[in-house]
Amino acid sequence: MPLDAAWAAVAAQHARLKGVHPVTLFDRDPERFEHCSASAAGLLLDWSRQRIDAAALASLGALAEAAGVPARVEAMFRGDRINRTEDRAVLHVALRQPAGAGIGGPAIEAEVLAERARMLAFAESIRTGGEFDDVVHIGIGGSDLGPAMAVQALRHHTGGPAQRVPRVRFAANVDGCALSDILAEADPRRTLFIVVSKTFTTQETLTNARTARAWLVERLGEAAVPAHFAAVSVNAAAMDAFGIHPERRFMMWDWVGGRYSLWSSVGVSLAIAIGAERFEQLLAGAHAMDQHFREAPWSRNLPVLMALIGIWNIDCERLPTLAVLPYDSRLARFPAFLQQLDMESNGKQVALDGHPVTHGTAPVVWGEPGNDAQHSFFQMLHQGTPRAAIDILLGLESSCSREDHQELVITNALAQSEVFLRGRSGEGVTPHQVHEGGRPLSLLVFDRLGPATLGALVALYEHKVFVQSVVWGINAFDQFGVELGKKITHDVLTHLRAPDSASGSLRAVLKYIEARQETRRGVRR
Ligand code: F6P
Repeated sequence: MPLDAAWAAVAAQHARLKGVHPVTLFDRDPERFEHCSASAAGLLLDWSRQRIDAAALASLGALAEAAGVPARVEAMFRGDRINRTEDRAVLHVALRQPAGAGIGGPAIEAEVLAERARMLAFAESIRTGGEFDDVVHIGIGGSDLGPAMAVQALRHHTGGPAQRVPRVRFAANVDGCALSDILAEADPRRTLFIVVSKTFTTQETLTNARTARAWLVERLGEAAVPAHFAAVSVNAAAMDAFGIHPERRFMMWDWVGGRYSLWSSVGVSLAIAIGAERFEQLLAGAHAMDQHFREAPWSRNLPVLMALIGIWNIDCERLPTLAVLPYDSRLARFPAFLQQLDMESNGKQVALDGHPVTHGTAPVVWGEPGNDAQHSFFQMLHQGTPRAAIDILLGLESSCSREDHQELVITNALAQSEVFLRGRSGEGVTPHQVHEGGRPLSLLVFDRLGPATLGALVALYEHKVFVQSVVWGINAFDQFGVELGKKITHDVLTHLRAPDSASGSLRAVLKYIEARQETRRGVRR
């Protein structure tokens, strides 16, 4: 079927369902849960609260076929250069493969396994060596969000050896506040800094790294740098210049995008926090999702189903945002991680063929732990005019051994899911109390938030994003939209120091800032 015909068929299904309340779909199919749920790699996806029925889903499946999703999936795993605008392969799936899987070919498999072994041996030596109290991960974007999210998510899985496991902390923002807070409490003799930057040119990371380096040199001297710094990058020359010891350098490859790099040595601080064995469980969970993604028919394929439901909500239901609501405080940073994964991948308006896209692309992804959000923005989700699609993530076991609280976690998540679905109206309900319901919602349920489950969860969303990019005809793996900002920052810095050199909109605000700075300096004298 031609792609435009497939899109038209989806639109026709949406027109057919217009005005049908999802509750009606339950009335029409008493086994709706059984027909609208699927499991893989320890995760259950329940889409029964979406305004989709079998015929609509079939049209979405046909759209995926028409867009060539199966072939593009195999092309990715084969190592084809599917990142066409940068002429690169996309092989984050190779990073989590077990020996013998052959993903990306034998040479890449061997390189990945060797570097993983080297990184994990280093991580274990730091974790159990008793040499450091603090490990400070310095990075930003994909060189921060994944490891920071995972260290928090698996905080309950850092059970280390008898002696203390180093505390892993993160510094990303160029304002230096996080780094200052860390340095205020750190003992230079017992602190290891890990500079994570694929390019080793990112201004935020280099600024924080240089400040940390100066702090260390001031206290322990230049000779201390090799013993207190490690780095993850593709830029060997920059690591030379910084003074990173060759044995404390870990590789990245240009076929791994930053937002897809958790599985690589970018995750070394996570490996220090949870240990090599649990890090390998994380990889195994992601690999299990990879195998499911490659093998399952689209109608039982969790990443494909989530991708198609997302396209339905964005392009048919016209819901431009996705609220991700984990009912687990340990996943508090999961929405932030997904923001980069989804919006830096698919926040695009030009298709691979160079023409404007024909449909809406990435949603605005946002969210907070669900229970907290009940007391902040659920009012809008239930009764507001802006509408959102919703993903609720629910672990059945407590992530912090508070089983005495977990029953309330589960009941809150399910109660809200019911109200989002059914709403409330009718006899005795005033207009102010009416809840329309019909808020499209997917439930992701898992037994417990451990390394394997987290790996599967992250891989699920990675592949969801990839499938959507294929259907939309865009490249999920470049990020030209962030390059210009970086360049302009350098130009503005020049003008900030000489406001008269600026023009137009910039000049006026720089002159104002200059005047304020002078006033403040005057006040300080
Ligand atoms: O946000 C732009 C970006 O290039 C991300 O894609 C990347 O994860 C981040 O900056 C950090 O880049 P690097 O790892 O090269 O420091």
